[in-house]
Amino acid sequence: MKKQLLDLLICPNCLPGEYSLVADIIEQQDGDIHTGALKCPQCASLFPIIDGLALLDPQTSEDERQTNKYESEEVVSSYLWSHFSDLLDDENGSQAYTTWAGVMRPQAGISLDAGGAVGRFTFEMSSKCDFSIGLDTSQAFIRAARQLMQERSMVVSLKDEGMLRKETVIRLPDDWRSDRVEFIVANALALPFRKKTFNMFTSLNLVDKVPSPMTHLQEMNRVTRDTNAQFMLSDPFSWSTEAAPKDAWLGGKTEGDFAGKGLANVATMLAKKQGELAPSWQVDDPGHVWWKIRTHSNHYELIRSCFIHAKR
Ligand SMILES: C[S@@+](CC[C@H](N)C(=O)[O-])C[C@H]1O[C@@H](n2cnc3c(N)ncnc32)[C@H](O)[C@@H]1O
Repeated sequence: MKKQLLDLLICPNCLPGEYSLVADIIEQQDGDIHTGALKCPQCASLFPIIDGLALLDPQTSEDERQTNKYESEEVVSSYLWSHFSDLLDDENGSQAYTTWAGVMRPQAGISLDAGGAVGRFTFEMSSKCDFSIGLDTSQAFIRAARQLMQERSMVVSLKDEGMLRKETVIRLPDDWRSDRVEFIVANALALPFRKKTFNMFTSLNLVDKVPSPMTHLQEMNRVTRDTNAQFMLSDPFSWSTEAAPKDAWLGGKTEGDFAGKGLANVATMLAKKQGELAPSWQVDDPGHVWWKIRTHSNHYELIRSCFIHAKR
């Protein structure tokens, strides 16, 4: 983990209190902490840094991690294709991330991509702001993103058919800056960052995957700035009780506070002068992208991800 993150990080266990973490660095090179730990002086929580990977998610247990599909090799390779297929000269590649990136206007400051998986959007944002951070609960995803950050290219083994595999090489374009990105393991429901840290915040295909979508939005609002801030949320709104109880869904219901569609409900909440997501956001017209996930050469999942972009 780059040492420059130390100024931004706080203990996720002490929220809403904000306590800086104290670094115990065992091994470092060129400003990158390879081995060490971050300690909270308030609650004594210890967050290890192993092989450069900062583990700052106190909410996911080891048992949950073992059974998390996003930790499997197969899903990592699937997401590497989903994120970087347009760089691979693949006729089936997806333009989703380029479209999303085009929605965010360049500006000074720091960006955060929550649930950023193997890092495509975080890299995109490195050419649009001063520093770009990606976080995810999956250690395997963050490890892959950091490998790309450090090595700039990666050989990926994609499933072709049955036991057949084919290898391809991802190479990052020069304008995605490794010196301007970092990736950490953390939880979108307990962000290890001070309030008002970020000028740009993105949540792509995440809000329907977390057990408390409202907590995710409140955390977004806590860490974004009151002015000069942009927020983009994109999602297929595949509400499911596997991810969150119906009471917690922000849409997809016929009655109650969140009756109607998720995207419209989130837009209404953002625009309110008072309430959970104040100070209010100015919300642009909605849009959508076709987001694609590849299972094997002849099998793809095509997802209509609906987005809104807001600024304040
Ligand atoms: C459907 S994928 C979307 C990935 C990426 N945002 C994209 O659009 O390509 C959902 C991602 O959210 C991550 N995730 C799930 N729950 C999370 C949480 N509570 N905090 C942070 N990341 C989470 C998963 O590990 C996975 O990478």
